[in-house]
Amino acid sequence: MRHAILAECLEAAIAAPSIHNTQPWRFLPREHCVDVYADRSRRPAASDPNGRELAISVGAAVLNLRVALLARGYRPSYALLPERSQADLLARVTFGGRVQPTYRARRLAGAIPRRRSNRGPFRSAELPEPVLTELVQAAAAEGAYLMIADPPLRDAVLGVVRRAETSLRADPAYSADFAWPGVVEDDPTLAILYGSGDSRYAWLRAGQALERVLLTATANGVQSTLMTRPLAYADLRALFDDSGLGRRAQAIIRLGYGDEPPASPRRALADVIMAVPDEPVGTAD
Ligand SMILES: Cc1cc2nc3c(=O)[nH]c(=O)nc-3n(C[C@H](O)[C@H](O)[C@H](O)COP(=O)(O)O)c2cc1C
Repeated sequence: MRHAILAECLEAAIAAPSIHNTQPWRFLPREHCVDVYADRSRRPAASDPNGRELAISVGAAVLNLRVALLARGYRPSYALLPERSQADLLARVTFGGRVQPTYRARRLAGAIPRRRSNRGPFRSAELPEPVLTELVQAAAAEGAYLMIADPPLRDAVLGVVRRAETSLRADPAYSADFAWPGVVEDDPTLAILYGSGDSRYAWLRAGQALERVLLTATANGVQSTLMTRPLAYADLRALFDDSGLGRRAQAIIRLGYGDEPPASPRRALADVIMAVPDEPVGTAD
């Protein structure tokens, strides 16, 4: 693979959402793959004690990398937590053989630079049924379940989000920049993303599902906000879990139509690449 193509794919990876925009990832490009590491120095220890949101963020970056490769005609395969001995090595994304990029892959890849967290008001929060179906399918494609909240659940979720906000505001370490702004439509479209179980593996899977949902929303002109604060509290999180099915809530997503917000900053690619080999990565095209 040519350096320039790999660089494009890594730029796509770092466009992923991350908790508090911490961008807690590092990439080691190798001959036929990219190893994706956690950068634990960037984990907000207070709000993410067990690294759940860090792993979800890295999962989102992995999904972007996979989509970017596929859109450029490389069939990616990937392994999560590929080396037991390396705890921080969260994923290995391997460039497979050449394939004709599908329309779907190109559409998702096109959404990567356009996806943004929109914390502003939405003009409309009513999503057409086919779009909702596509979002649910996007989650399912990555092994997750997206529940679109009906009005009673939506109101219950909003109540919990506001409760979480109130307790956060009482915390001196509270950072208004990153918290849910507290202003929300009366009838937002809210979706809850569920994964199976609660392990680093499950969080990495959930992160990929989350990003596929967000990109699918973007591709349909739908804006999104993550409002995951309540899930940082075990008791509040338990309210969402479905123990019968072993499903754990991993993210709450607000969806709607609004003005496009400005892009949030990213670290330079050079700062997140662990080592660039002297030789070109992989074989020339
Ligand atoms: C696991 C996770 C949890 C997040 N939780 C929140 C949240 O509770 N409130 C919020 O406003 N943004 C939340 N975000 C969004 C990030 O703040 C956002 O992705 C980051 O600032 C980068 O901006 P961008 O999404 O516009 O690229 C979360 C993102 C991730 C990946």
